[in-house]
Amino acid sequence: MPESFPIAVLVSGTGTNLQALIDQVHGRDGIEIVGVASNNPEARALERARGAGIETAVFRVADYADRAERDRSMADWLEQRGAKLVVLAGFMELVNPEFLAHFPKGVINVHPALLPSFPGIHAIERQLEHGVKVGGVTVHFVDEGVDSGPIILQEATPVPYTRDAGEFERRLHEIEHILLPKAVRLMAAGAVRIDKENPRIVHVDEDALGD
Ligand code: GRF
Repeated sequence: MPESFPIAVLVSGTGTNLQALIDQVHGRDGIEIVGVASNNPEARALERARGAGIETAVFRVADYADRAERDRSMADWLEQRGAKLVVLAGFMELVNPEFLAHFPKGVINVHPALLPSFPGIHAIERQLEHGVKVGGVTVHFVDEGVDSGPIILQEATPVPYTRDAGEFERRLHEIEHILLPKAVRLMAAGAVRIDKENPRIVHVDEDALGD
């Protein structure tokens, strides 16, 4: 029996990355999505979670005294469900350092650019506007900055010759839907380790998955 690895997912929008996690990792190798939380009650991602029988909750900043209180309440809910790892999959708000401290095994995020280039919102459009020839996807640990934490996995892809935003976005999403589940499986397998001397460097043993 693999060791149990409960994870939680934070979402704000469509939830295609959540769907990739439901399809590829949920209920396998001890990995269980124990809760999906959102800042947006209208998020299509919440329907996807419910459809898979996963508990959901909504935490809107407007319903709390401030963001710190919202983050505290969200962290409590995730902790009560036993989440060891928190995955930000299109979660469009920042979480505070106190939230991060609740999950020492990690909070990770997927971003549609090769960080540290193009952190923050509208990353896909900004890559095209800048005229890059190569874009990509990054999965990284979350720290107190914007898309600034240590990098776990990255994959590059050429910008399509047409420079069509829709085509580029589809390609980046395809990569996200492979890279994020892979990062979660690697974390569950204990194959991701931050370097003791340089906390920017993340050692990843991809052979641990035996794919
Ligand atoms: C993805 O592009 C992800 O990289 C970014 O937000 C988007 C979420 O898409 N952080 P979805 O909700 O998973 O479809």
